[in-house]
Amino acid sequence: MAKYIIKGGSKAQGEVTISGSKNAALPIIAATILNGGKTTLYNVPKIHDTEMMFEILKKIGGKVTKKENKVIIETSKINKYEIPDDLMRQMRSSVIFVGSIVGKYKKAKFSYPGGCDIGTRPIDLHLKAFEKLGINISKNYGNISCSCDRIIGENIDLEFPSVGATENAILASCLAEGKTTITNAAREPEIIDLQSFLNKMGAKIKGAGSNIIEIEGVKHLKDVSYNIMPDRIEAGTFLCMAAMTSGNIKLKKVNPSHITPIIDKLEEAGCKMTIDKNEIDIIAPKKLKAVDIKTMPYPGFPTDMQSIFATILCTAKGTSIIVENIFENRYKYVQELIRMGAKIKIESRTAVIKGVKKLYGANVKATDLRGGASMVLAAIAAKGTTTIENIEYILRGYEKFDKKIRDLGIDIKIEE
Ligand code: UD1
Repeated sequence: MAKYIIKGGSKAQGEVTISGSKNAALPIIAATILNGGKTTLYNVPKIHDTEMMFEILKKIGGKVTKKENKVIIETSKINKYEIPDDLMRQMRSSVIFVGSIVGKYKKAKFSYPGGCDIGTRPIDLHLKAFEKLGINISKNYGNISCSCDRIIGENIDLEFPSVGATENAILASCLAEGKTTITNAAREPEIIDLQSFLNKMGAKIKGAGSNIIEIEGVKHLKDVSYNIMPDRIEAGTFLCMAAMTSGNIKLKKVNPSHITPIIDKLEEAGCKMTIDKNEIDIIAPKKLKAVDIKTMPYPGFPTDMQSIFATILCTAKGTSIIVENIFENRYKYVQELIRMGAKIKIESRTAVIKGVKKLYGANVKATDLRGGASMVLAAIAAKGTTTIENIEYILRGYEKFDKKIRDLGIDIKIEE
């Protein structure tokens, strides 16, 4: 297992270019199955999670050719309809393949994704959406089979605006007969990106970004090329890196409108931001002010930024209160921050953070992807050297993370 070794105490200063969005790339890669042809994707982040998606595509008969961030995917020879168990276990979001496989071939098999690092993460809403479309689901000792003769458009009312269930419902209904309407749909920007991609492929979808999405089924989809949107959580992570180290950073290739709640909270904490069309400049104060945060589905404050914000508030002036409303187990990283001198108390879904003067270097572990990024921020701001173990979690979602950080003047090394 690899480690980061970070010498703390420097300000994060300079420019950083934001990569393509992980959470937009994953469903779009799955969606390439639907045209049974050629897709060229640009701005695909080179991270572990996209690699896993390509592995699954290759296992079921797809062809993947990569050149840096450009990826050509050929899906005309897909001949297996099962997501391999080991890959399903390694990446929970591989469930996003099911909508495409069943949407295209009217059958799919996969194993039940277990609990994960941030909560139980059930898939009942995905399965209910499939059933609404006339897809039969049978469960057998942890394996799930989907099958049907036809997929017929229907009204799908989601009990909760789940991102994955909304995406899977869209993917399963693009080639359906008739019209599907998803109500209480998730409104995340990544769903708009999926809609734009599929419409470019010839699908007829409207409404993404609102809570009602309408999909008019089409018979065929065509070859397509598409540029993936920027990663809003990576953007938020680098803004927070500047905020925590009294630094100043220019973010390039970012979409500021996707991160309004993050910008608002950073301004409330005392940061000065200059916002352009695709760039953001942040200048952080000597000391941040405490702020309160509650995570909510988009356009609320994103749960994926919860641990990162909690980390920067560890050294803010005053007491901050955080409420995690999306996942039930997203405070594992707190134990690691406490090792570094943070004062945090957890009570169910609430974290109370009492700002301390400084954090101190320690040996800590990444507990999950965003919890791991939080450790990196804490280490950069801390006095002394920090060793972060289990950085594989971080590499799932951040492209060239150590290089981008080093370019901001920080002393970070990887040790195998
Ligand atoms: C996606 C993102 C993830 C982000 C999350 C919430 C991807 C690859 N991942 O995950 O980074 O943190 O959105 O913004 O895009 N739920 C159910 N039943 C279901 C599905 C979900 O109860 O069938 C619950 C989950 O346990 C969770 C909540 O709904 O408590 C939100 O989950 P969901 O929006 O589905 O998240 P993901 O799509 O898994």
